[in-house]
Amino acid sequence: MNTNIIKKKIYIKTWGCQMNDHDSSIIANILIKTKNYIITETPELSDILILNTCSIREKAQEKLFHQLGRWKKLKQQNSNILIAIGGCVAAQEGKKIYKRAKFINIIFGPQTLHNLPELIKKAYKNKNLIIDIKTKSLKKFNYSINNTLNKKFTSFVTIIEGCNKYCSFCIVPYTRGREVSRNQKNILSEIKQLTRIGVREVILLGQTVNAYHTYDFINKKKYNFSDLLYSISEIPKIDRIRYITSHPKEFNNDLIEAYKYIPQLTNFLHLPVQSGSNKVLKLMKRGYSTEYYEDIVNKLKFIRPTMSISSDFIVGFPGETNHDFQKTLDFISKINFDTSYSFIYSKRPGTRAAKLIDNTPIEEKKNRLAILQKKIIQQSLQWRRRMLGTIQSVLVEGQMKNNIKNLYGRTENNRIICFKGKPELIGQFVSLKITKINYYTYLKGEIN
Ligand code: SAH
Ligand code: F3S
Repeated sequence: MNTNIIKKKIYIKTWGCQMNDHDSSIIANILIKTKNYIITETPELSDILILNTCSIREKAQEKLFHQLGRWKKLKQQNSNILIAIGGCVAAQEGKKIYKRAKFINIIFGPQTLHNLPELIKKAYKNKNLIIDIKTKSLKKFNYSINNTLNKKFTSFVTIIEGCNKYCSFCIVPYTRGREVSRNQKNILSEIKQLTRIGVREVILLGQTVNAYHTYDFINKKKYNFSDLLYSISEIPKIDRIRYITSHPKEFNNDLIEAYKYIPQLTNFLHLPVQSGSNKVLKLMKRGYSTEYYEDIVNKLKFIRPTMSISSDFIVGFPGETNHDFQKTLDFISKINFDTSYSFIYSKRPGTRAAKLIDNTPIEEKKNRLAILQKKIIQQSLQWRRRMLGTIQSVLVEGQMKNNIKNLYGRTENNRIICFKGKPELIGQFVSLKITKINYYTYLKGEIN
């Protein structure tokens, strides 16, 4: 019997970060599990359209209404289509979205996505808007388990949600709510379960992932991020541990020490500094200085001399002078950052930085961004160049599409590498010698 005939088709569109991507996979998992829905790639053929939004930068509201304009046309052709808006813009704007787009059916937030099956049922019965954007729910963690049955080798695992840091530029604490850590037993059992479908690498997720802490009731003591890393390192088959994103202020000595004792921790760390000027860092309310940041990096490099560090940078923050910007450029050289992400400051409604005077012209900000990105690219290329001839541990992810005799995988510092190998190696770690450096595509290597 083909039960697909009665299943409703769902299309999910996602904006933003890995956190949002992961949230969308959770939404898909939850809905598939009800056995009432299947996920499609074609909005035109779908019964339910879900948009998982992000409001970190850009003109998120405008982008939302632009997208809704397109979906409105689909709804005009078929009035039975349901439209659900989730994510940070939904949490922030709530009912205001409905006021401008009366044809939408559901508004849900990042912490209420597990309620979607119920919300959809209600929406089919009731033509009025269904809205559920509470932020303080812990329940999502019960559903955030990555329990796909598809074979895979690397997997995200959410360990902490929300953020208490209130950096003056950032909307996240307002949209994702206060910090909540997930129970350690739950996390460990999810990872053990993932190893059964082939997972060898976990990427621990959180807005401030290293602020993770719970209580260990057996040993009657605080159980923090480094404790969790030690526990994960004892799980057989997990040979690589990554995490995003950590905050310098929470990067304590226990975590630095962990790099001595946990070989599964990669030699690559994403640790956003945002600016190289202490004056700007203060205005951003980041809670650390460049000297403090440098000290962390030096301690890490003492333990792992070949470790590479990447960062996020914001240019054109209110009050950033050319002199401050120059300090950021100097700091990039000093730390010798690997690939980094950089953005022009974007004013977010309701944040503290939105009240600061910002008199740098946009053209000047664009100019600074271009200079900074050029520098970052140059440094990233140097990191690549230095990899030539080295031996790298690579997790093999699959066969190349253009030539199935070639496999590909990722190095610890996230470079894709292609090499000749048998398909049995897929899902395994191999030692590869880097034989060719391409600057803009993948590297080439051979089995060592
Ligand atoms: N703790 C999360 C923060 C998510 S925001 C993390 O570090 O991943 C990701 C990045 O977006 C930040 O590090 C910052 O560089 C950038 N960002 C956040 N708010 C911004 C804003 N208002 N304007 C420009 N960039 C911003
Ligand atoms: Fe945003 Fe700062 Fe938290 S960048 S997510 S408020 S650590």
